[in-house]
Amino acid sequence: MTTRQANDYIDKHKTSVNPEFRLAFHGMPQVGWMNDPNGLVFYQGRYHVFYQHYPYDSIWGSMHWGHLVSDDLITFDHLPVALAPDQDDETGCFSGCAMVDPNDDHTLHLFYTRHYDKDGITRQTQAMATSHDGIQFVKRPELIITSDMVDAYARTSDVRDPAIYVDKDTTYLIVGAQGHDGIGKFLVFASDDLNTFRFHHEWTDPGRFGQMAECPAVIHQNDRHLLVYSKIDDTLPHDRIRNSSNYIIGDFDFARGQHRHIVNGTIDSGHHLYAPQLLQDDKGRTILIGWMEMWGCKMVTHELGHQWYGALTLPRVITIEDDVLYQWPVDELERYRIDAIPLTDGMTIDKRLDLTVDDTTESFRLAFAHPEHASEAYVISYDGTHIQVDGTTISLSPLEPKTSQQAYDHVSLRIIVDTSSIELFVNHGRETFTSRVYIRSATYRIHVTPGVQGTVHRLRPKEVSV
Ligand code: FRU
Repeated sequence: MTTRQANDYIDKHKTSVNPEFRLAFHGMPQVGWMNDPNGLVFYQGRYHVFYQHYPYDSIWGSMHWGHLVSDDLITFDHLPVALAPDQDDETGCFSGCAMVDPNDDHTLHLFYTRHYDKDGITRQTQAMATSHDGIQFVKRPELIITSDMVDAYARTSDVRDPAIYVDKDTTYLIVGAQGHDGIGKFLVFASDDLNTFRFHHEWTDPGRFGQMAECPAVIHQNDRHLLVYSKIDDTLPHDRIRNSSNYIIGDFDFARGQHRHIVNGTIDSGHHLYAPQLLQDDKGRTILIGWMEMWGCKMVTHELGHQWYGALTLPRVITIEDDVLYQWPVDELERYRIDAIPLTDGMTIDKRLDLTVDDTTESFRLAFAHPEHASEAYVISYDGTHIQVDGTTISLSPLEPKTSQQAYDHVSLRIIVDTSSIELFVNHGRETFTSRVYIRSATYRIHVTPGVQGTVHRLRPKEVSV
């Protein structure tokens, strides 16, 4: 497989994608499958977001790296596919990260996992690809992390998703892994020149990293470190979702291999957010983007034959205050607001909204319902202590009720609605709920408890990108 084949295929098939559930201001593949965001980077004045991509079908397949670019993190353009599995020993370019070369800001490096799965052998190794224009990437033939470098510490079949963290003159590469004992951990490698990497230390945290730790990302902010990571918990029954996205706030001393853990939690309390990655931009912001889907969930647009599947969450600014993690939509979204309408019971409104509910201590219910079938709805409620979201009545893809992890004696909400998604931010981003909502209507009718005050901003929809 080559990038050219993939790009030709995309050009030929992008117009046949069914637009019904296409989003207006979220990253999506033009055609085919998307999972994890990869290689989030601010490069040459623009935001680049790569992603796990299989253009040829709306199901997971041999992984390519799709490529999106944006000036404002809200409207994305598609660039040609950056990586394709093109060698005999490679059955997929799995997740990883990007880094602008510290000595040459025109040079962009991608770090990714080479997945080999043939003839009963599964092997995952780490590799690099480099570009001088941010469009064409050339893979380095030599691996940076071989199976031999891993074998003493972890299963060579499950070691993936390299993340870079630079501390002083050392570049650390953190990879997700499963130990020989079947427990998840991270392996940390180090390099002084980006050419050769050496094993540095193991990062274990018993009970925290599941059976497989994957998709790490680390940043340093306000004297704290933040690790976001995903994990697979194989001990859960098969009918349960076994994947989750998590974080640890702590003090991480990479040089000494000591990672002091202060607070941990789950990134999102809703149904669909996985494999989040982090980006630091020129404004000093830390931005999180996740896959707005989840392994094990119903694949609605695939099952409907819409020829695409998967999207990215809205980019969120991450802050840590008093060891509490906050997530908030990037400010750029507000430029897309076209009006401000008071929230009213019974209003019918299109699906691209930025809606706020003013702070209240009173319990309430707010439903985004099918305009003709009021019972089919995504319902947000507050009972005076907890927030709950519930989409059990949605016929295409019912969503089980989810309750906030925190108790709140008052709440304010911000709710970002797109064609097939609802992202809820509670109390300035103290907790979030992200869900794909597939209700077959062009508009929602809003049902809200009388007395609840709020504002509905419609968002200027952009042309659905093909
Ligand atoms: C997480 C993940 C990664 C892997 C990629 C493959 O969703 O399983 O660990 O690199 O997806 O597409």
